Amino acid sequence: MWGGRFAEGPAAVMREINASIPFDKRLWRQDIAGSKAHVAMLGAQGIVSPEDAARIADGLDRVAAVYAAEGVPEDLALEDIHMATESRLAEEIGAVAGRLHTARSRNDQVATDFRLWVRDAIDAVDAGLKALQTALVARADAHAATVMPGYTHLQAAQPVTLGHHLLAYYEMVRRDRSRFRDARARLNECPLGAAALAGTGFPIDRRATAAALGFDRPTANSLDSVSDRDFALDYLMAAAQASLHLSRLAEEIVLWASQPFGFVRLPDQWSTGSSIMPQKRNPDAAELVRGHAGRITGCLTALMITMKGLPLAYSKDMQDDKPPVFEAHDLLALSIAAMTGMIETLDFRPERMRAAAEAGFITATDLADRLVRVAGVPFREAHHITGAAVKLAEQQGCALSDLSLEALQAIDPRIDEGVQAALSIDASVAARASEGGTAPERVREAVARARAALEAG
Ligand code: ARG
Repeated sequence: MWGGRFAEGPAAVMREINASIPFDKRLWRQDIAGSKAHVAMLGAQGIVSPEDAARIADGLDRVAAVYAAEGVPEDLALEDIHMATESRLAEEIGAVAGRLHTARSRNDQVATDFRLWVRDAIDAVDAGLKALQTALVARADAHAATVMPGYTHLQAAQPVTLGHHLLAYYEMVRRDRSRFRDARARLNECPLGAAALAGTGFPIDRRATAAALGFDRPTANSLDSVSDRDFALDYLMAAAQASLHLSRLAEEIVLWASQPFGFVRLPDQWSTGSSIMPQKRNPDAAELVRGHAGRITGCLTALMITMKGLPLAYSKDMQDDKPPVFEAHDLLALSIAAMTGMIETLDFRPERMRAAAEAGFITATDLADRLVRVAGVPFREAHHITGAAVKLAEQQGCALSDLSLEALQAIDPRIDEGVQAALSIDASVAARASEGGTAPERVREAVARARAALEAG
C-alpha cells in the first residue's frame, strides 16, 4: 500500500512486529461499516462518482459476506484489517477500490472502527449487568426476611437480611451501569474525516458520516481525534470497577461455600471436584471471577502506560490499544455471565445463617439501644452495661437472649423485662427500619424500586 518510495520489502521480524491483523481482524464489521459510510459520503459530495461509490459499496458487502463465511485471513503482509479489506476489495472490484481511501487515513479509520467496537461492547456489557441485577433482585425478594450475620472486620456485627445483602450488590452494579452509560455518551463522537491528523482538503461532510454511523456529532479537533484513546480507557476503567465488584461478590461466595460458614451450597453446575479428594466441591467459577478482576485491572494499567508518554498525534504504540480492551472485554463478559448463573442457582442455607447469627452476641447493640430508648441511659453508658452482659453470656456459654432477667438486672436494674424479646434476631432486623436499613419491609420496598428501575432500563 505504501511501497512507492521503498526498494526493498520489510524484514520478516519487522513484518511480524508491525502487524495487527492477528487481533484487529476482530474489527472487521466496524471497518466495513465505516468504509461504507465514508464511500457513500464521497459519492454524495461528488468526490468520487456515484457509479464508483456504488461499486465500492457493493464490493464491501461482498467482502463482508466472505469474512462472515470464511473468517478474515491473517496475512501479515497486509498488516491490519484496514489494508486486508482494501486489498480484498480490489480482488472483488478491481482498481476502483483504490478510490475508497480518498480523504481519509488509517489514523481516523482505526479511531472510528475502534469507537464503534467499544460502543457495541458497552451495549453487550450493559445487557449482561442488567441480567445480573435481575437475578440479584429475584433472590433478594425471596430472602427479604432471611436473617444472617452482618460482619464488620469479618467479625459478627449485627444481624442483617440476606435480601439486604444481595441488594447491596444490586446498587454496585447500578453504579457500574451508569459508568458505562457515561463512557458511551462521551465516546459517541465520530473521528472520521480527521484524516491523518490535520483534516483534509477534500470537501467532505463529516456530519453525514457521523450520523450514518450512529454518532451524535463529529469530533471537534482533528489532532485530538486521531490521538485520543480516552474512550478505550473509559471502557477499561468502568470494566475494572465492575470486575472489582464481581470479585468481592465472588469472594463472599467462596467464603460462604466454605465449611465453617456453610451459608450456601454451590449447585453441581457451578462446582468442580478434586482429582484426589472425593469430598470436594470447589467454587472454581467464583475464584476465577475473583482472579479475572486482577487481569482486567492489568489491562487498564497496560493501556494507561501505553498512552502516557505519547506526543500528538498518532504513534504506532497506539496499535497496542486493542489487545487489552479485547482481553478485558472477554474476561468481563464471561465473569458477568458466570456470576449471573451462580446467583440464579446458589442454594442458600437459611438455617446455617440463622445459627451463625445466634452465635455471636450479635444483638448486643439492641440491648444498648433499648437501655437508651426505654430507660433513658446515655448510649456510652448503655454500651458499657451491655459489654458486661456479653461477658456474662460468654462465661455461661449461652446466647445473650438466654440470660435470665435476674442475671441481667444484677448487672443493671434499669434493664426491663421487654429486653429478651428485643434481643431476638428477628426483632433486631425488624427494628432497623430506617431508610436504607435491613428490615424486611425496607428490603421489599427496595426490591419494588429496583424492579421498576429495571423495567425502565
Ligand atoms: N494498524 C494500525 C493501528 O491499529 C492502524 C493505523 C495505522 N496508521 C499508521 N499511520 N501506521 O493502530
